[in-house]
Amino acid sequence: MQIVPFDANLGADVTEISLADIDDSDFNLIYDAWLQHSVLRIRDQHLDDNQLKDFSKRFGPLEYAPHGNVTEEERSKIPNPYVATISNVTVNGRPIGGLSNLETSWHTDMSYIEDPPTASLLYAVEVPGDGGETSFCSMTAALEQLPDDLRQLCTSIRIKHDAAHDSIGKIRNGHTEFSSPKDAPGVYHPAIRRHPETHKDALYLGRRQNAYVEGMSLSNSEATLDSIWEHVALPAHCWTQQWRVNDLVIWDNRIVMHQRAAFPNSQRRLMRRTQVKPRN
Ligand code: OGA
Ligand code: MN
Repeated sequence: MQIVPFDANLGADVTEISLADIDDSDFNLIYDAWLQHSVLRIRDQHLDDNQLKDFSKRFGPLEYAPHGNVTEEERSKIPNPYVATISNVTVNGRPIGGLSNLETSWHTDMSYIEDPPTASLLYAVEVPGDGGETSFCSMTAALEQLPDDLRQLCTSIRIKHDAAHDSIGKIRNGHTEFSSPKDAPGVYHPAIRRHPETHKDALYLGRRQNAYVEGMSLSNSEATLDSIWEHVALPAHCWTQQWRVNDLVIWDNRIVMHQRAAFPNSQRRLMRRTQVKPRN
Protein backbone atom coordinates (compact mmCIF):
# COMPACT_ATOMS: atom_id res chain seq x y z
CA MET A 1 0.00 0.00 0.00
CA GLN A 2 1.18 3.52 -0.86
CA ILE A 3 -0.03 6.90 0.38
CA VAL A 4 0.51 9.49 -2.35
CA PRO A 5 -0.34 13.08 -1.30
CA PHE A 6 -2.01 15.25 -3.93
CA ASP A 7 -0.30 18.35 -5.23
CA ALA A 8 -2.71 20.41 -3.13
CA ASN A 9 -3.16 21.64 0.39
CA LEU A 10 -5.14 18.51 1.31
CA GLY A 11 -5.88 14.97 0.20
CA ALA A 12 -3.99 11.84 -0.83
CA ASP A 13 -4.42 8.74 -2.94
CA VAL A 14 -4.16 5.34 -1.31
CA THR A 15 -2.95 2.81 -3.87
CA GLU A 16 -2.16 -0.91 -4.07
CA ILE A 17 -4.84 -1.96 -1.62
CA SER A 18 -8.11 -3.86 -1.76
CA LEU A 19 -10.42 -2.68 1.00
CA ALA A 20 -12.62 -5.74 0.86
CA ASP A 21 -9.89 -7.66 2.69
CA ILE A 22 -7.53 -5.50 4.70
CA ASP A 23 -5.96 -6.23 8.05
CA ASP A 24 -5.68 -4.00 11.11
CA SER A 25 -2.20 -2.77 10.34
CA ASP A 26 -3.27 -1.59 6.86
CA PHE A 27 -6.31 0.03 8.40
CA ASN A 28 -4.20 1.86 10.98
CA LEU A 29 -2.05 3.32 8.19
CA ILE A 30 -5.18 4.41 6.33
CA TYR A 31 -6.63 5.95 9.50
CA ASP A 32 -3.46 7.91 10.21
CA ALA A 33 -3.28 9.09 6.58
CA TRP A 34 -6.92 10.19 6.81
CA LEU A 35 -6.14 12.28 9.92
CA GLN A 36 -3.06 13.74 8.27
CA HIS A 37 -4.48 14.52 4.80
CA SER A 38 -8.20 15.04 5.67
CA VAL A 39 -9.38 13.45 2.40
CA LEU A 40 -8.37 10.07 0.96
CA ARG A 41 -9.19 8.62 -2.43
CA ILE A 42 -8.98 4.90 -2.99
CA ARG A 43 -9.57 3.87 -6.61
CA ASP A 44 -10.66 0.58 -8.18
CA GLN A 45 -12.54 -0.79 -5.18
CA HIS A 46 -15.31 -3.35 -5.56
CA LEU A 47 -17.60 -2.86 -2.60
CA ASP A 48 -21.18 -3.93 -2.14
CA ASP A 49 -23.19 -2.22 0.60
CA ASN A 50 -22.13 -4.73 3.23
CA GLN A 51 -18.46 -4.36 2.39
CA LEU A 52 -18.81 -0.58 2.38
CA LYS A 53 -20.45 -0.74 5.80
CA ASP A 54 -17.85 -3.18 7.17
CA PHE A 55 -14.99 -0.97 6.05
CA SER A 56 -16.73 2.20 7.31
CA LYS A 57 -17.31 0.62 10.74
CA ARG A 58 -13.57 0.45 11.27
CA PHE A 59 -13.66 4.25 11.67
CA GLY A 60 -16.32 4.09 14.40
CA PRO A 61 -20.03 3.32 14.85
CA LEU A 62 -22.19 3.94 11.78
CA GLU A 63 -24.53 6.94 11.72
CA TYR A 64 -27.98 6.70 10.16
CA ALA A 65 -28.27 8.26 6.72
CA PRO A 66 -30.18 11.56 6.98
CA HIS A 67 -33.86 10.79 6.46
CA GLY A 68 -35.25 14.04 7.92
CA ASN A 69 -37.58 14.07 10.89
CA VAL A 70 -38.57 10.41 11.21
CA THR A 71 -39.91 8.50 14.17
CA GLU A 72 -38.10 5.36 15.30
CA GLU A 73 -41.01 3.36 13.90
CA GLU A 74 -40.68 4.97 10.48
CA ARG A 75 -36.93 4.44 10.65
CA SER A 76 -37.37 0.73 11.33
CA LYS A 77 -39.09 0.41 7.93
CA ILE A 78 -36.21 1.96 5.98
CA PRO A 79 -34.56 -1.00 4.20
CA ASN A 80 -30.89 0.02 4.45
CA PRO A 81 -30.78 2.85 7.01
CA TYR A 82 -27.00 3.24 7.21
CA VAL A 83 -26.33 3.67 3.49
CA ALA A 84 -27.52 6.79 1.67
CA THR A 85 -28.07 6.90 -2.07
CA ILE A 86 -26.91 10.12 -3.71
CA SER A 87 -28.30 10.15 -7.24
CA ASN A 88 -30.30 11.93 -9.93
CA VAL A 89 -31.74 8.64 -11.19
CA THR A 90 -35.52 8.31 -11.02
CA VAL A 91 -37.62 5.16 -11.13
CA ASN A 92 -41.27 5.62 -12.09
CA GLY A 93 -40.74 9.36 -11.75
CA ARG A 94 -39.44 9.09 -8.18
CA PRO A 95 -35.82 9.93 -7.24
CA ILE A 96 -33.96 6.89 -5.87
CA GLY A 97 -31.63 9.14 -3.84
CA GLY A 98 -30.80 12.66 -2.75
CA LEU A 99 -29.20 15.81 -4.21
CA SER A 100 -30.48 15.39 -7.81
CA ASN A 101 -28.11 16.79 -10.50
CA LEU A 102 -27.81 20.28 -9.00
CA GLU A 103 -24.80 22.02 -7.57
CA THR A 104 -24.68 21.69 -3.79
CA SER A 105 -23.62 24.48 -1.50
CA TRP A 106 -20.38 24.09 0.43
CA HIS A 107 -21.26 22.13 3.53
CA THR A 108 -20.34 19.86 6.40
CA ASP A 109 -22.42 16.70 6.64
CA MET A 110 -25.08 16.70 9.37
CA SER A 111 -23.54 19.61 11.26
CA TYR A 112 -27.06 20.34 12.52
CA ILE A 113 -26.86 17.55 15.12
CA GLU A 114 -25.08 17.66 18.47
CA ASP A 115 -22.38 15.14 17.50
CA PRO A 116 -21.92 15.30 13.74
CA PRO A 117 -20.26 12.47 11.79
CA THR A 118 -16.47 12.24 11.94
CA ALA A 119 -16.04 10.41 8.63
CA SER A 120 -18.12 10.38 5.46
CA LEU A 121 -17.42 7.73 2.82
CA LEU A 122 -18.68 8.21 -0.74
CA TYR A 123 -18.43 5.41 -3.30
CA ALA A 124 -19.03 5.86 -7.03
CA VAL A 125 -21.25 3.29 -8.75
CA GLU A 126 -22.15 5.34 -11.86
CA VAL A 127 -20.60 8.66 -12.85
CA PRO A 128 -21.57 11.20 -15.53
CA GLY A 129 -19.20 12.04 -18.40
CA ASP A 130 -19.55 15.75 -17.64
CA GLY A 131 -19.55 17.57 -14.30
CA GLY A 132 -20.47 16.12 -10.92
CA GLU A 133 -16.98 16.67 -9.46
CA THR A 134 -16.72 16.97 -5.70
CA SER A 135 -14.46 19.63 -4.17
CA PHE A 136 -13.07 19.72 -0.65
CA CYS A 137 -11.72 22.74 1.24
CA SER A 138 -9.52 22.95 4.30
CA MET A 139 -11.18 24.65 7.25
CA THR A 140 -7.87 24.94 9.12
CA ALA A 141 -6.60 27.00 6.17
CA ALA A 142 -9.82 29.05 6.22
CA LEU A 143 -9.27 29.84 9.89
CA GLU A 144 -5.63 30.79 9.33
CA GLN A 145 -6.74 33.00 6.46
CA LEU A 146 -9.15 35.08 8.55
CA PRO A 147 -8.12 38.65 9.37
CA ASP A 148 -7.24 39.02 13.06
CA ASP A 149 -10.44 40.82 14.07
CA LEU A 150 -12.68 38.19 12.49
CA ARG A 151 -10.63 35.34 13.94
CA GLN A 152 -10.89 36.97 17.34
CA LEU A 153 -14.66 37.31 16.93
CA CYS A 154 -14.92 33.66 15.91
CA THR A 155 -13.36 32.53 19.18
CA SER A 156 -16.40 33.83 21.03
CA ILE A 157 -19.45 33.14 18.83
CA ARG A 158 -21.68 30.15 18.24
CA ILE A 159 -23.50 29.48 14.97
CA LYS A 160 -26.81 27.69 14.57
CA HIS A 161 -26.84 24.98 11.88
CA ASP A 162 -30.14 24.54 10.01
CA ALA A 163 -31.51 21.00 10.19
CA ALA A 164 -34.40 21.64 7.82
CA HIS A 165 -32.69 21.95 4.43
CA ASP A 166 -30.26 19.76 2.53
CA SER A 167 -27.27 21.04 0.58
CA ILE A 168 -29.29 21.79 -2.56
CA GLY A 169 -31.58 23.93 -0.39
CA LYS A 170 -34.46 21.44 -0.47
CA ILE A 171 -36.65 21.08 2.60
CA ARG A 172 -36.07 17.75 4.36
CA ASN A 173 -38.74 15.19 4.98
CA GLY A 174 -40.89 16.09 8.01
CA HIS A 175 -39.71 19.73 8.20
CA THR A 176 -41.59 22.94 7.34
CA GLU A 177 -40.35 26.23 5.88
CA PHE A 178 -39.73 29.21 8.17
CA SER A 179 -39.22 32.86 7.34
CA SER A 180 -36.12 33.74 9.38
CA PRO A 181 -32.89 31.81 10.03
CA LYS A 182 -33.52 32.68 13.68
CA ASP A 183 -36.42 30.19 13.55
CA ALA A 184 -34.46 27.37 11.91
CA PRO A 185 -34.42 24.09 13.82
CA GLY A 186 -30.91 22.86 14.58
CA VAL A 187 -28.10 23.12 17.11
CA TYR A 188 -25.46 25.71 17.93
CA HIS A 189 -21.77 24.93 17.57
CA PRO A 190 -18.80 27.17 18.35
CA ALA A 191 -17.47 28.87 15.19
CA ILE A 192 -14.07 27.33 15.91
CA ARG A 193 -13.74 23.70 16.90
CA ARG A 194 -10.62 21.85 17.97
CA HIS A 195 -10.13 18.51 16.27
CA PRO A 196 -10.24 15.93 19.06
CA GLU A 197 -7.50 13.76 17.53
CA THR A 198 -5.10 16.15 15.75
CA HIS A 199 -5.82 19.05 18.15
CA LYS A 200 -5.88 21.46 15.20
CA ASP A 201 -8.35 24.35 15.31
CA ALA A 202 -10.70 24.74 12.36
CA LEU A 203 -13.49 27.04 11.37
CA TYR A 204 -16.84 25.28 11.68
CA LEU A 205 -19.57 26.71 9.44
CA GLY A 206 -21.85 23.91 8.22
CA ARG A 207 -23.86 25.67 5.50
CA ARG A 208 -24.35 29.35 4.68
CA GLN A 209 -28.10 29.00 4.08
CA ASN A 210 -30.11 29.75 7.24
CA ALA A 211 -27.06 29.94 9.46
CA TYR A 212 -27.46 32.28 12.41
CA VAL A 213 -24.99 33.76 14.91
CA GLU A 214 -26.33 33.34 18.42
CA GLY A 215 -27.58 36.50 20.10
CA MET A 216 -27.09 38.83 17.11
CA SER A 217 -29.71 40.79 15.23
CA LEU A 218 -30.47 39.03 11.97
CA SER A 219 -28.77 41.74 9.92
CA ASN A 220 -25.59 41.61 12.05
CA SER A 221 -25.60 37.85 11.86
CA GLU A 222 -25.94 37.92 8.06
CA ALA A 223 -23.16 40.50 7.69
CA THR A 224 -20.84 38.60 10.04
CA LEU A 225 -21.42 35.30 8.28
CA ASP A 226 -20.90 36.88 4.86
CA SER A 227 -17.58 38.35 5.92
CA ILE A 228 -16.40 35.02 7.37
CA TRP A 229 -17.48 33.05 4.28
CA GLU A 230 -15.42 35.36 2.03
CA HIS A 231 -12.31 33.57 3.32
CA VAL A 232 -13.59 30.05 2.84
CA ALA A 233 -12.85 27.63 -0.01
CA LEU A 234 -10.25 29.82 -1.69
CA PRO A 235 -8.79 27.90 -4.65
CA ALA A 236 -5.43 27.38 -2.91
CA HIS A 237 -7.21 25.58 -0.05
CA CYS A 238 -9.23 23.17 -2.19
CA TRP A 239 -8.85 19.88 -3.98
CA THR A 240 -11.33 18.55 -6.54
CA GLN A 241 -12.17 14.91 -7.10
CA GLN A 242 -12.89 13.91 -10.71
CA TRP A 243 -14.88 10.75 -10.21
CA ARG A 244 -14.29 7.39 -11.81
CA VAL A 245 -16.49 4.39 -11.22
CA ASN A 246 -15.25 2.37 -8.20
CA ASP A 247 -13.62 5.36 -6.50
CA LEU A 248 -14.06 5.60 -2.74
CA VAL A 249 -13.45 9.00 -1.13
CA ILE A 250 -13.27 9.36 2.66
CA TRP A 251 -13.22 12.78 4.26
CA ASP A 252 -12.71 14.07 7.76
CA ASN A 253 -16.01 15.87 8.18
CA ARG A 254 -14.64 17.74 11.21
CA ILE A 255 -12.03 19.64 9.28
CA VAL A 256 -13.06 19.97 5.61
CA MET A 257 -16.23 21.08 3.84
CA HIS A 258 -17.30 19.78 0.44
CA GLN A 259 -19.31 20.86 -2.58
CA ARG A 260 -20.60 18.87 -5.55
CA ALA A 261 -20.71 20.49 -9.02
CA ALA A 262 -23.85 20.24 -11.16
CA PHE A 263 -24.04 17.81 -14.09
CA PRO A 264 -26.46 17.26 -16.99
CA ASN A 265 -29.61 15.54 -15.85
CA SER A 266 -29.52 13.47 -19.03
CA GLN A 267 -26.53 11.61 -17.53
CA ARG A 268 -26.70 9.17 -14.63
CA ARG A 269 -24.78 9.53 -11.39
CA LEU A 270 -25.17 7.02 -8.58
CA MET A 271 -23.20 7.06 -5.34
CA ARG A 272 -23.46 5.13 -2.09
CA ARG A 273 -22.54 6.87 1.14
CA THR A 274 -21.95 5.93 4.76
CA GLN A 275 -21.21 8.12 7.75
CA VAL A 276 -19.47 7.43 11.03
CA LYS A 277 -20.38 8.72 14.49
CA PRO A 278 -17.83 9.96 17.01
CA ARG A 279 -16.60 7.25 19.38
CA ASN A 280 -17.70 8.16 22.90
C1 OGA B 1 -22.46 13.80 0.38
C2 OGA B 1 -22.41 14.82 -0.65
C3 OGA B 1 -21.52 15.05 -2.83
C4 OGA B 1 -21.44 14.24 -4.08
O1 OGA B 1 -22.49 12.62 0.02
O2 OGA B 1 -22.48 14.16 1.57
O3 OGA B 1 -22.46 15.98 -0.36
O4 OGA B 1 -20.42 14.36 -4.75
N1 OGA B 1 -22.23 14.35 -1.87
O5 OGA B 1 -22.36 13.50 -4.39
MN1 MN C 1 -22.44 16.14 1.88
